[in-house]
Amino acid sequence: MTQQIKSLEEYKKVYAESVENPEKFWAKQAKTFTWRKPWTKVLDYEFKSPKVKWFVKGKLNITENCLDRHLESRGDQTALIWEPNDPSQAYRTYTYRELYEEVCRAANMLKANGIKKGDRVCFYMPMVPELTIAVLACARIGAIHSVVFAGFSANALADRIKDASCKMVICSDYNSRGAKNIPVKKVVDDALAMGCDSVETVIVHKNTGEKTAMKRRRDIWWHKAIEGQRKTCRATQMDSEDILFILYTSGSTGKPKGVVHTCGGYMVYTCFSFKNVFQYKEGDVYWCTADIGWITGHSYIIYGPLLAGATTMMFEGVPTFPDAGRFWHICEKHRVNQFYTAPTAIRALMALGDHWPKHYDLNSLKVLGTVGEPINEEAWNWYKKEIGKGTLPIVDTWWQTETGGIMISGLAGISPEKATFAGYPLPGVQVCLVNADGKEIRGNGKEGLLCIKFPWPSMIRTTYGDHERCRQVYFSAFEDKYFTGDGARRDRKGMYRIIGRVDDVINVSGHRMGTAEVENAINEHENVVESAVVGYPHDIKGQGIYAYVIPNAKIKNEAAFQKELRAIVTREIGPIAKPDKIQVVSGLPKTRSGKIMRRILRKIASGDTKNLGDVSTLLNPEIVKEVMKGAKK
Ligand code: PRX
Repeated sequence: MTQQIKSLEEYKKVYAESVENPEKFWAKQAKTFTWRKPWTKVLDYEFKSPKVKWFVKGKLNITENCLDRHLESRGDQTALIWEPNDPSQAYRTYTYRELYEEVCRAANMLKANGIKKGDRVCFYMPMVPELTIAVLACARIGAIHSVVFAGFSANALADRIKDASCKMVICSDYNSRGAKNIPVKKVVDDALAMGCDSVETVIVHKNTGEKTAMKRRRDIWWHKAIEGQRKTCRATQMDSEDILFILYTSGSTGKPKGVVHTCGGYMVYTCFSFKNVFQYKEGDVYWCTADIGWITGHSYIIYGPLLAGATTMMFEGVPTFPDAGRFWHICEKHRVNQFYTAPTAIRALMALGDHWPKHYDLNSLKVLGTVGEPINEEAWNWYKKEIGKGTLPIVDTWWQTETGGIMISGLAGISPEKATFAGYPLPGVQVCLVNADGKEIRGNGKEGLLCIKFPWPSMIRTTYGDHERCRQVYFSAFEDKYFTGDGARRDRKGMYRIIGRVDDVINVSGHRMGTAEVENAINEHENVVESAVVGYPHDIKGQGIYAYVIPNAKIKNEAAFQKELRAIVTREIGPIAKPDKIQVVSGLPKTRSGKIMRRILRKIASGDTKNLGDVSTLLNPEIVKEVMKGAKK
């Protein structure tokens, strides 16, 4: 099993070793896994191109490490607990052996339906065990999974299916979330009607059993397709650098890009980081509340915990159904030991009152975690006091879809803790701050742009189908460095605090969104000439979406116009991208070269109109007053 650090002294020692000799350090971790063939070289890299290979020519299958290798020692231990949306419905558990058998059956089902190594399979599913099972089934036979969060619209789903030329889609009939039943299969039908010619088969998992239209020769029911499939399936031998999955994420420009992760390095890093950050101990019950549609779910619901032989939980529902005590009820019911959630959920629950957690026995909890966005001090303190009884360690984990695993975080109960600070980098992670010219800022008590200057095993390898974009977005800003897009502060003791994105990416309820994507959607409206979208501070969501819109004629009914714009964004991207505030303007502040001055728009949106700086050099300085006057409260 991968190394588990036990003290701050050990962390310091291991960190120093990992920087002095990264190859030796990672080889030591990697050796604890099952490889079909050993690697010939630990690392081969060049950031410029970028080209990054870990455990070169090593052969493995990640599911043999998640499942097979645990069968002897913990075949009867619970691997997965599933808590349904409706608390009156029975929960389900799978032992490692049961999960292994289900994954093998699903892998045989995929093969029987024409899926081979290298084929792309798209998922559009709720948080049900079949999602985890089928994702692992893909990995078992070397098919590449591309999970799309089931809150995205048909348009967004179609874009992702086309970009990866997926051969199959796996979905459910309906998705139960809170009191709602959402017709998921219908969204898939709509997406496939938009020219997704690569899709040959749709496997539909019966979740709610409501009436669902099936297309002949294309759609099959999961329960029929899996019937009679064998409980064993030989895992396909993969190269360390073969693609494990694609996951789409938003950037500052253009459409979302498919971040590519590969088998070997991702396996080693997710397991190592899981065990160390959460200090998982044999027999613990670990719960991450994320959705598998995001990287957190991939790395820390499925892969990291299963690689480590943990008991991992999946929750189908939402934090407020049937009431705001649901999370705490689940912690009590399943005796959860490690609990990992997003600041936005903490803030939402905090706003609903301190009495909710008090109704439940939270004594099983040992570790609290947060991820996805900066956590404000008030939320951190509430989490510590009300959930952690003032004593439990909180790990604030900073990382990204592109990093594959947690990069900066405390190790629970080991590292020093400071509210709103993620803390120190994990072993093997060489972070640095640079200034706008790319010069490294040395010393403590400094602020700058957060970069990583040496490869780590689970890093992004490429953006699917467009390697140049990967180079340009992440590796071209600063020489020999991966640029994260975040700004950070390093305190006197070298601990890091993430300030937030410095590019045109906003983080709404922990969901990452490109402002350009939202603008493109708004601009689809026939009466819109131009728009600019920025983020602004929001009490619960962290950031809200503020849209400035220039119409082509006077808008008679602004409420109706706003409704139409929100409907378009929902259609193009999904409800998570709907603007919170829309302001109709006659122009946007621009530089003489025609660039929108987002800095000014951000300030106005955040209600900070005192420090706009010098606006006299703008092409249209007069517009600033108008925009300020009409700003939405
Ligand atoms: O801005 C940072 C923020 O989320 C971004 C990455 O988003 P995504 O790829 O969707 O992955 C989210 C889950 C890993 C980062 O660039 N972010 C993530 N974690 C934190 C954070 N900001 C502050 N503190 C964190 N702990």
